[in-house]
Amino acid sequence: MNFEFTEDQIMIRDTAREFAQGEVAPSSVERDLNGTFPAEIVKKLGELGFLGMMVSPEYGGAGLDTISYVLAMIEVSKADASVGVIMSVNNSLVCFGLEKHGSDYIKEKYLIPLAKGEKLGAFALSEPEAGSDATKQKTTAFKEDGYYVLNGIKNWITNGQSADYVLVMATTDKEKAHHGISTIVVEKGTPGFGYGKKEDKLGIRSSDTSSLTFDSCRVPVANLVWEEGKGFNFAMNTLNGGRIGIAAQAIGIAEASLEAALKYSKERKAFGQTISNFQGIQFKLADMAVKVDAAKLLTLKAAALKDAGKKYYKEAAMAKLYSSKIAVECALEAIQIHGGYGYVREYLVERYLRDAKITEIYEGTNEIQRIVISRALLDEK
Ligand code: CAA
Repeated sequence: MNFEFTEDQIMIRDTAREFAQGEVAPSSVERDLNGTFPAEIVKKLGELGFLGMMVSPEYGGAGLDTISYVLAMIEVSKADASVGVIMSVNNSLVCFGLEKHGSDYIKEKYLIPLAKGEKLGAFALSEPEAGSDATKQKTTAFKEDGYYVLNGIKNWITNGQSADYVLVMATTDKEKAHHGISTIVVEKGTPGFGYGKKEDKLGIRSSDTSSLTFDSCRVPVANLVWEEGKGFNFAMNTLNGGRIGIAAQAIGIAEASLEAALKYSKERKAFGQTISNFQGIQFKLADMAVKVDAAKLLTLKAAALKDAGKKYYKEAAMAKLYSSKIAVECALEAIQIHGGYGYVREYLVERYLRDAKITEIYEGTNEIQRIVISRALLDEK
């Protein structure tokens, strides 16, 4: 076991840190307040190669490993978790699946611009009545004259209205239940593809979360990813990697909470001394530090397994479950250490709590992660 990062991994982490602190963090408060999508920052992420980090250079990507991706995700999310999720969805849920399962045509037409950051992607699985129970897809895509005709509604779609290309999971054969679901790439602007409301959220307020509507939306059959009936497996496979990305996003929030708490505790005076002198505060800081490190180790382990081509779905679920839980805990403790100041917008810790909560919900709630982990454990016996 080697706990040292390679020179390349350190270089990626440092580049991400410099970009995140220099260009993402300063405007994050305003974006959170107004709910504005960080279009300029997303463009720069693309220029840095951070939107197709794990895609091979042949398809316009940076050809990096999952460990580098985790390190970059932590740094970006530490500055602004909204930017973190935009980056994570494009890398893990869109590019990864297209490189693994897309046809040459799809790779050429869609993956290359997505990996280069010239276009942005979204992943549309959830529906009003198919959230955790994702097999119950009501969106349909039936074949007609060389086209799939899509009808239905998708909910809670990250990058929804901002994405150029959306991977839509839809039922192509009702008889086959989840083996009748397929993945189809739909381009923004295709007639019949529209938008419902953009959500006004508690946290990650500047990421665009929208519902999508499909009303007799015709898409060429060449836009099918993998094979008909493989859409649910596609979604599950890509979500395994996505969960590593969200774990990293959660770690970024937890680490930001710890750093804010440390800084404040060394500045704030009470009872004639800085509050960092009090054991009550010291113990909170120690517990937060242990949690951040444990979350990092779990997440890097899942990333290392993925990079080694081994099974990693259980470890990815563990990483996401634990990291999201401690992100909420660390943000809460950071608020407690800040006292009243932690409860107002002037300090960032109240945003950390609002941003942290979603990591326990999306890309599989923590209850779903426990299902995935416990089934894996029982299967191993
Ligand atoms: N990895 C790979 N395959 C998996 C898998 C995993 N983690 N979990 C399930 N599967 C496969 C099974 O092997 C099975 O495949 P076959 O039928 O081909 O053999 C198939 O999926 C069905 O599995 P189950 O019989 O276990 O189905 P289930 O209905 O009992 O449970 C579930 C499935 C695990 C609960 C699944 O529905 C699930 O993960 N739900 C959560 C969905 C989710 O994460 N949604 C997130 C939305 S996307 C999002 O949030 C993105 C964003 O914008 C930020």
